[in-house]
Amino acid sequence: PDASTHALDDDATLDGVDLEQLAHRIATPLHAYSASAIRQRIDTLRQALAGLDAGICFAVKANPNLAILQLMAEAGVGADIVSAGELQRSLHAGVPPGRIVFSGVGKSADEITGALSVGIARFNVESLDELHLLQRLAQAQQVVAAAAVRINPDVDAHTHAKISTGKSENKFGVSIDEARCWFAARSMFPNVRLDGLHVHIGSQILDAEPFRLALQRVAVFWRELEQAGHPIASIDVGGGLGVCYRAGVDQPLAVTDYAAAIHEALSGFKGRILLEPGRWLVAEAGVLLTRVIRVKPGVERCFLVLDAAMNDLQRPSLYDAWHDIVPVRADASGSPTTYDIVGPVCETGDTFARGRVLPECVAGDLLLIKATGAYGASMASTYNSRPLAAEVLLDRGRYAVVRRRQHFDEMIAGEQPARHWQTP
Ligand code: LLP
Repeated sequence: PDASTHALDDDATLDGVDLEQLAHRIATPLHAYSASAIRQRIDTLRQALAGLDAGICFAVKANPNLAILQLMAEAGVGADIVSAGELQRSLHAGVPPGRIVFSGVGKSADEITGALSVGIARFNVESLDELHLLQRLAQAQQVVAAAAVRINPDVDAHTHAKISTGKSENKFGVSIDEARCWFAARSMFPNVRLDGLHVHIGSQILDAEPFRLALQRVAVFWRELEQAGHPIASIDVGGGLGVCYRAGVDQPLAVTDYAAAIHEALSGFKGRILLEPGRWLVAEAGVLLTRVIRVKPGVERCFLVLDAAMNDLQRPSLYDAWHDIVPVRADASGSPTTYDIVGPVCETGDTFARGRVLPECVAGDLLLIKATGAYGASMASTYNSRPLAAEVLLDRGRYAVVRRRQHFDEMIAGEQPARHWQTP
């Protein structure tokens, strides 16, 4: 991807909005997303998939802000959900139930019932127990649920262990052997139309090989099933396409090569192909805008203390993830200085970067932490009783606050002193 797909016009503006001005209007830290960049990703993916009967279901977990989901809905993109909360958000934002698929190893009876009643498109079923539960609950509602088996293809995605999902040691999906038994026993599940396959091997995958391998295994199995008299109407290839977090180092596979792998593996497949991209659609469209609170020279290193912290962006502390960090000044001219870039939270893990070279900074300087549009605000918490940051959508020179910074009252809503003691 070239710089234009990176949404940042020049580190001083994003989607035509001057970030310095934005930070004057809205207190930092704040998450900003470029609507144009997201739309561009959607278009690019669609173009790459041309010729296939393919539907895109955005993995809501990557960025569940209602404005983002609304943008997806308006662009005709569906939703891949993993909870009742994500279902409600998707419906609220106008995603039609017929474009919603439901993944996850721990769907509860209540969640399945809720999804059945609104008539979602498909359940990606991950265990025999879940299949039995789906049968019971669909029967109770006198409906037939469309379902796909999530296959665990036992493929190494060569990504961070915490976000790898397609090895047999991972909790996700079932083996092809087990799936074969489910199809053979299909008649035991009259309220489940088991006619789909699903695979998702992990996230932030930078090379095509793991995708190819997983898709090949799924394709061999689909052909076997068809021959055995089990027609397959849908193959869901999951998400996982990686993005560039480290300019000049990360080399994500091109979306066209990713699409080519799908074309190749599933050529001859007559049904519908579903995709569940999360990160690729939104990560590089977002930045975390933050101010330097102070520069703190230490004995061994010099610390840049920001007003953003691990509660606003967990990826560095959780996965040792790299995010490029740059000053919001087209003409940053200070002499190159090496910093550990940290937040105010009271633990050492609250570190965004170690030994990073930046033009010399002073208190009040604005910085951008880049590529935070996926799994940024989405994974935020109020740790250290820090309010959830504002989220702002930018679109060709204009901005809209799509989540205001949390008020203290909202943070403590639901909490109360222990006054009314009861026994269970
Ligand atoms: N489909 C399923 C079933 C998934 O579990 C996921 C992500 C996706 C699709 C979307 O994957 P993507 O296209 O975004 O790679 N918090 C981690 C990422 C966790 C991904 C979990 N599942 C991070 O910040 O790197």
